[in-house]
Amino acid sequence: MVAMTNSAAVLADAAAYAAAVEQASVAAAAYYATGESALDDDAYDRLARGIAAYEADHPEEVLAASPTGKVAGGAAVGDVPHTVPMLSLDNVFSAEQFATWTASLERRIGRPVTAWSVEPKLDGLAVAARYRDGRFERLITRGDGTAGEDVSHAAGAVVGLPERLAEPVTIEVRGEILMTNDQFDQGNATRTEHGGAPFANPRNGAAGTLRAKDRAYRVETTFFAYGALPLPDSGELGETLAELPHSEVLSYVAGLGVHTAAGTDVAPVLAATVEEVQVRVDAIGSLRAELPFGIDGIVIKADLAADQREAGSGTRAPRWAIAYKLPAVEKITRLLAVEWNVGRTGIIAPRAVLEPVEIDGSTVGYATLHNPADITRRDLRLGDQVMVYKAGDIIPRIEAPVVHLRTGDETPIDFPESCPQCGSGIDTSEQRWRCTRGRNCRLVASVSYAAGRDQLDIEGLGATRVVQLVDAGLVADFADLFTLEREQLLALDRMGETSTDNLLAAIETARTRPLSRVFCALGVRGTGRSMSRRIARYFATMDRIVAADVETLQRVDGIGKEKAAAVVAELVELAPLIDKLVAAGVTMTEPGATPPPEPGTEEEAAAGAGAEAVGGTGSTLPLAGMTVVVTGAMSGALEKLSRNQMNELIERAGGKSSSSVSQRTSLLVAGDKAGSKRTKAEDLGVRIAVPEEFAELVGAFLAAGEDT
Ligand code: IVH
Repeated sequence: MVAMTNSAAVLADAAAYAAAVEQASVAAAAYYATGESALDDDAYDRLARGIAAYEADHPEEVLAASPTGKVAGGAAVGDVPHTVPMLSLDNVFSAEQFATWTASLERRIGRPVTAWSVEPKLDGLAVAARYRDGRFERLITRGDGTAGEDVSHAAGAVVGLPERLAEPVTIEVRGEILMTNDQFDQGNATRTEHGGAPFANPRNGAAGTLRAKDRAYRVETTFFAYGALPLPDSGELGETLAELPHSEVLSYVAGLGVHTAAGTDVAPVLAATVEEVQVRVDAIGSLRAELPFGIDGIVIKADLAADQREAGSGTRAPRWAIAYKLPAVEKITRLLAVEWNVGRTGIIAPRAVLEPVEIDGSTVGYATLHNPADITRRDLRLGDQVMVYKAGDIIPRIEAPVVHLRTGDETPIDFPESCPQCGSGIDTSEQRWRCTRGRNCRLVASVSYAAGRDQLDIEGLGATRVVQLVDAGLVADFADLFTLEREQLLALDRMGETSTDNLLAAIETARTRPLSRVFCALGVRGTGRSMSRRIARYFATMDRIVAADVETLQRVDGIGKEKAAAVVAELVELAPLIDKLVAAGVTMTEPGATPPPEPGTEEEAAAGAGAEAVGGTGSTLPLAGMTVVVTGAMSGALEKLSRNQMNELIERAGGKSSSSVSQRTSLLVAGDKAGSKRTKAEDLGVRIAVPEEFAELVGAFLAAGEDT
């Protein structure tokens, strides 16, 4: 169940109440006018709830400026009257509050509601798009709810709002305009290239973009329809719309060619009971972190026109719909410092140190920053107030500085002039900076990685041993491990006969590891364990991997053009190491994998660009076409398998392994102490198996891979 931890601001007296109303009005006015506010959503909600609580206790003191009584809570902006007011929504924050709300609605209409539409609460700006005889006519913001601003000039860059509808109808479509995550990144890049300040978050970006006139560049946003109503000269359509259930209005609008949330993972669904609604609410909450656009809650609406009519509306919000708010995933905090860390491949990566802030149930003190160019492009400065986003398991990220909160005391971020690890030079020719010594800068880390459990799995070769080997000049890369001699090892501190022989035996075993493990040990950037397995299974031999060009590499599931180019470039750099490994007799083939057809042959043409699952996979495999996630402690026949070995097993049995549960997950293998992944799978109705059931399913493949 979605945890709601929101509290209200406590207002002690009339003066505190008045100050809170003033603060909320200023924030709301700024938010509705420009999308910018000094308060993040969570802070605004807490303030508004404190105001409402005070008003409930002191009804005689309610101020006219209070946001609780307003239609839309904002200052009037624009002069195009709305035919029907654009209302806001009341909020609930828990299952209990939702149940109380439904009970009061059902009391009001005197019967149970048997159809609820459960949809995402899209985190953007409400707009009304008017169409006359099927042609786009006008785009209007919500403004203060009674009149909005004409922003028709911006409609051309709004994805999902066609110029012409599929039928020549006169209709007003209402919905939300937002920036998808991609549009936000793209929009900020374009904007800063043109000398503009970056948008603090996607909603801010959508608001700014909609109101901007005469921009020298184009920034796209996306429209999602969530309702429609007739215009004065809609004719018969007016009566039809008035009688249709809300869900059918949405389908009708989609049929006209207007974008709705129907094609997304959080598409509106109908629920018959409060319990069913709650299941969908939890499912949408679970999907939130992976959505390509922002949502800040779930909207639940009585679906039937008669229920809506009889419930009616208040001045601020309808009584037949409610917003079930999700916890805030964005907070404003201060950027204190930037740390520069050198990774195992020599990449020098910046990381933001933040004033710790509580987001979505955990304390966030750090956030990723991609590269120096990204810092420059976003014009980040030390001391900046920044908008930080974190949802679910994702790594927190800084969306952008909140430029209008700058005091003038912010200072530029210093970029390193030499490698912070070893003091060598920095190669700045690529977006991601790198120590000129490359992998050698963190030689111990890169050899330890190669020897690690999920790569060559060399028992007895921990970091301390690797340091010894490197310091003694015996190892300059991990291929040197395979030519180590007994006497050389015996000469090292704390290396007796037994540990030496054990280590040499472990190295011998490593020489026979399959290609997927050897490839992973190379530490090619962007190719972890699962990608290495896919590459090895696709190409079957190291020769073929090395010979692959950018186009061929893209045939591997999950490799796009950019990644393919990066892998090709890195394999050139790694060629001497690969040659050394070949010379040392290390395995360069993947057992069970069938090589892809040679380029230019008939088989190749038949295989086509979609060929991905070669390597003995076929529809007879028990996990063919399935995406499997593993969580919790394995038991029975699977007890000794690491996560990586479990993933290898899944892939041998024809499935695809994944680390996160989503609607695309076919099966969750849940062992003892399975936590949030199990809950999420239950919410989404994903099939769950205990390790013993799974072992039975893939039994034949279990034995096959025991010694890999
Ligand atoms: S229905 C009369 N449905 O949330 C009912 N609103 O906080 C009006 N919103 O003003 C709104 N997603 O801007 C509705 N699926 C959805 C929505 C949605 C986002 C926005 C809308 C509204 C605000 C209220």
